[in-house]
Amino acid sequence: SKGAALVSAVAQRLTSQSRKVEETLSKFKLIKEQLQLVKDRMRAGLEAGLRSQGPFTIKMLPSFIFHKPDGTEHGKYLALDLGGTNFRALLVRFKRQKSRIYHKIYTIPLEIMQGTGEELFDHLAECVCDFLDYMGVKNARLPTGFTFSFPCEQTAIDTGKLVTWTKGFNATDCEGHDVVGLLREAIKRRNEFDLDIVALINDTVGTMMSCAYEDPHCEIGLIAGTGTNLCYMEELKNIEKLHHKSGTADREKNTPEQNGEETEGEIKRSKMCINTEWGGLGDDGSLENIITAFDTEVDQNSVNPGKQRFEKLTSGMYLGEIVRQVLLDLTRRGLLFRGHISESLKKPGIFETRYLSQIESDHLALLQVRCILQKLGLDSTCHDSIIVKQVCGAVSRRAAQLCGAGMAAVVDKIRENRGLDHLNTTVGVDGALYKLHPHFSHILQDTVKDLAPQCDVTFFPSEEGSGKGAALIAAVARQNQEM
Ligand code: GLC
Repeated sequence: SKGAALVSAVAQRLTSQSRKVEETLSKFKLIKEQLQLVKDRMRAGLEAGLRSQGPFTIKMLPSFIFHKPDGTEHGKYLALDLGGTNFRALLVRFKRQKSRIYHKIYTIPLEIMQGTGEELFDHLAECVCDFLDYMGVKNARLPTGFTFSFPCEQTAIDTGKLVTWTKGFNATDCEGHDVVGLLREAIKRRNEFDLDIVALINDTVGTMMSCAYEDPHCEIGLIAGTGTNLCYMEELKNIEKLHHKSGTADREKNTPEQNGEETEGEIKRSKMCINTEWGGLGDDGSLENIITAFDTEVDQNSVNPGKQRFEKLTSGMYLGEIVRQVLLDLTRRGLLFRGHISESLKKPGIFETRYLSQIESDHLALLQVRCILQKLGLDSTCHDSIIVKQVCGAVSRRAAQLCGAGMAAVVDKIRENRGLDHLNTTVGVDGALYKLHPHFSHILQDTVKDLAPQCDVTFFPSEEGSGKGAALIAAVARQNQEM
């Protein structure tokens, strides 16, 4: 009959449509061999970055943190945390292995993120001033830890030059400058308060430290959020570039040669935390075999094309953009949104991480997915919403697997450093992608298990990680100053 013919024609169209969608999404599927290769590339990148001479794609930046906290930290500290789209000021008090935290969040407007360095740091000083007023500690000249979540070439615990901006920041006159100096100058210009800035810290390092405060096995810090990065405790003897530097004019009070061998009775410093900046993997083209045309498009539209290729496959700032590129392509091919490209879909940045997390939630009915899309200005049919969900799933799954492959390289390196057949270790983790996405953390953990079977890795989600960690590091640094 006519009816049956129509049903079969529609069914056929749908099957051929789903086949085309599936074909597109298969570009995001990674088989174990590919993940193993990513693990190997990561491992080679970690090793290369420790050497004294480049080229490096993974920067492997020394943090001048030798110890994890031991629970004796006490007193009141300020932590300042600049990382993603906001700036946080925290007042942390440590007393008998307990901490109390007060904090305030300030947004960083886009025009300040991409304006001049002076404007950016003046804005930070203004926020700090407001916070000190709010807490009533303006005259205290508090010891301060500054979490600055961008790659910094440190020569001591409290100095570091910004190597390059990442994650959409682009303020002028900062790259190549000591960011602690820039903050001190801004505070001086304001002339209303003073701080004793004792430590400059990457967010991964802060996260590791705050978890290590509770779990002594913690020796890795991972961020899977706006950006992605990892730090871990590396054997000093393996950090070739550090030894090389200390022989030059760069000699600083904090090099291990001068500061590393402690006075009698104390433990010899044998490890240092390294901020890997693993987001740079692939900047030499080594990930070409997994990079899709959608990834290339996202990279080309970013403020730092060609840079942070691994980060652009794995972090919150970019996943939504990859999804948007896929949706644009499917729509252009008439497979989605009835072939109509709406103004909303043309807008970069509409798919924030939190929407991906919501869309992929198993508890959400399709109708609710459609509601979210509607809120984003995307008119969808029920079938559209299924496809959108599949696209989100493919992109975030690949991201979690790639992070897992990277993590597998790190834990195996730590295991081999110690000559162990089996390693038990803990990772302190922070970031919205890890904490809020419904599947990211499981896929990441499964991948690590699969690719590093000789390691048992416990993931410890951190609360207030990088801020509290900065305060802890400030406490440790202050104690060292006093010694
Ligand atoms: C970017 C930064 C890095 C930071 C990470 C997570 O990759 O370069 O320093 O740790 O984002 O915030």
